[in-house]
Amino acid sequence: MWQTDDFISPSGRNGMAWLRGYGVLLASLFSLVSRVYCLPALSPSPSCECGYSVNATSEPEHAVFTDLLESDFTRITDLSADTDWRPQVWELNPDAALGPFGRAVRLQAVIPNPAVDLTANSSGIYGGHAGLNLLVPHDPILIKNLKYLIGAELDTARSDMFHGTFRIGYRTTKYPGTCFGFYWYHDDKQEIDIELLSRQSNDSTTLVNLVLHTPVGGTNQEALPGTYTVASLPYDTSDDIHELRFDWTPAAISWYHDGTLLWTITNTTLFPRMPGHIVVTHWSNGNPLWSGGPPEGNSALLLTYVKAYFNSSDPTRQADYNRRCGAAKAAGGNVGEQDRVCEIPSPVGPPRYDGVSADALPYFFSNDVARNATVNQTVYNPAGKSGAAAAADLSALAVVQYTVIVCGLTLMFAPRLTAGAAFPLLF
Ligand SMILES: *[C@@H]1O[C@H](CO)[C@@H](O)[C@H](O)[C@H]1NC(C)=O
Ligand SMILES: *[C@@H]1O[C@H](CO)[C@@H](O)[C@H](O)[C@H]1NC(C)=O
Ligand SMILES: *[C@@H]1O[C@H](CO)[C@@H](O)[C@H](O)[C@H]1NC(C)=O
Ligand SMILES: *[C@@H]1O[C@H](CO)[C@@H](O)[C@H](O)[C@H]1NC(C)=O
Ligand SMILES: *[C@@H]1O[C@H](CO)[C@@H](O)[C@H](O)[C@H]1NC(C)=O
Ligand SMILES: *[C@@H]1O[C@H](CO)[C@@H](O)[C@H](O)[C@H]1NC(C)=O
Ligand SMILES: *[C@@H]1O[C@H](CO)[C@@H](O)[C@H](O)[C@H]1NC(C)=O
Repeated sequence: MWQTDDFISPSGRNGMAWLRGYGVLLASLFSLVSRVYCLPALSPSPSCECGYSVNATSEPEHAVFTDLLESDFTRITDLSADTDWRPQVWELNPDAALGPFGRAVRLQAVIPNPAVDLTANSSGIYGGHAGLNLLVPHDPILIKNLKYLIGAELDTARSDMFHGTFRIGYRTTKYPGTCFGFYWYHDDKQEIDIELLSRQSNDSTTLVNLVLHTPVGGTNQEALPGTYTVASLPYDTSDDIHELRFDWTPAAISWYHDGTLLWTITNTTLFPRMPGHIVVTHWSNGNPLWSGGPPEGNSALLLTYVKAYFNSSDPTRQADYNRRCGAAKAAGGNVGEQDRVCEIPSPVGPPRYDGVSADALPYFFSNDVARNATVNQTVYNPAGKSGAAAAADLSALAVVQYTVIVCGLTLMFAPRLTAGAAFPLLF
């Protein structure tokens, strides 16, 4: 059992509390899905075959990306079922970790806390705010008589990302002494990096470390001029959910917070040249010069989503894109967006979960079944992961089946659901 700065996790998956929570969760998913999707799903209009854009394509400055990866962590009950992510397990001894403590990255430090009913409020089934928690516990563990601090790391399975817009809904821990990293990574010389140190956050200020690791020089200890900056936010990022984002196009790398530009680099000599993947990490090695720590308590970094829209370096995926976009354009017709490119919603302000209507919750193309906005994309959806790109038509089928099943069940149970009673455990 973990008692953290935000919630108490269950002692085990078999606990009745967990099951009860799961029943309520299923019920609320059904009711949400039925409310949002059942009626429109009767007449879906395909769209987005030609990609997703930052800014509308009618605007002079915009960027189009062909592929997407969206994880709505407020709905995820079991991360191992989500094949987009590879939670990591590894160790660095204290010397290699550059701290008084070693680092031990563990699956147990990744704890889903799915929403009970996001249409009501943001509560997770274990209390606290719904989302995926990456823990750094206070107490070190001993490995061969050396002290290690446990941490958590998620890497995307896909490593074909080349240019894109990458976004994470997060809330930092209240305990000083950890580092939260969100970055695109090829190797130590090609990396677009954001790091938040919880010791650099107080009631009035949070510092955000932005770094571009370049192929032309500089090191972790000494960055090249123009590749490192510290942005300052006038609030405490452990109070509420916020969004960090970076956009990487052939012309610029720009970092944003809650949709507001923090910093841009346009010297393309410094830009990455190879494809890479996304990493989210929460860790401490006790080194006072960076992470600080160990944290005073069991610290939880909360993630509510990752959304990535990117171009693929994989020839198979490029061919998929050309085929689906070509076919859609050939079919013509005034369906969906005229040019088959969908603009990625980029609201200014923090993501909101409490006190907003369902359509004001953070947006996911892959949850928007009615819009049919992820045709032939390999996306994780509540009905299960579609296999590979080759099996992609199955995902459209799965969505249809899912819609039928969920809408059917919802109709059957509608009276109980709308009565708001605790959902009986029938499953
Ligand atoms: C989505 O669009 C594709 C391509 O036009 C189509 O084949 C598929 O049937 C649509 N799926 C749904 C659920 O409408
Ligand atoms: C989107 O538009 C804004 C100005 O409205 C611009 O600053 C930004 O660079 C554009 N983004 C892209 C990726 O073109
Ligand atoms: C969230 O809503 C549920 C009802 O759906 C309610 O029981 C619970 O008290 C609410 N939690 C908070 C923190 O408001
Ligand atoms: C809060 O943090 C900022 C940046 O680290 C620092 O300049 C400021 O003095 C701190 N304020 C308090 C009250 O500690
Ligand atoms: C992404 O790839 C598409 C298809 O090749 C291309 O049209 C688009 O310009 C690329 N986007 C960026 C930002 O380079
Ligand atoms: C871009 O960065 C390289 C490497 O640091 C530097 O030599 C060059 O002068 C920079 N170009 C501009 C326009 O600043
Ligand atoms: C979807 O992908 C499959 C396999 O790559 C392909 O056979 C099919 O034609 C594609 N459909 C569209 C609408 O692009």
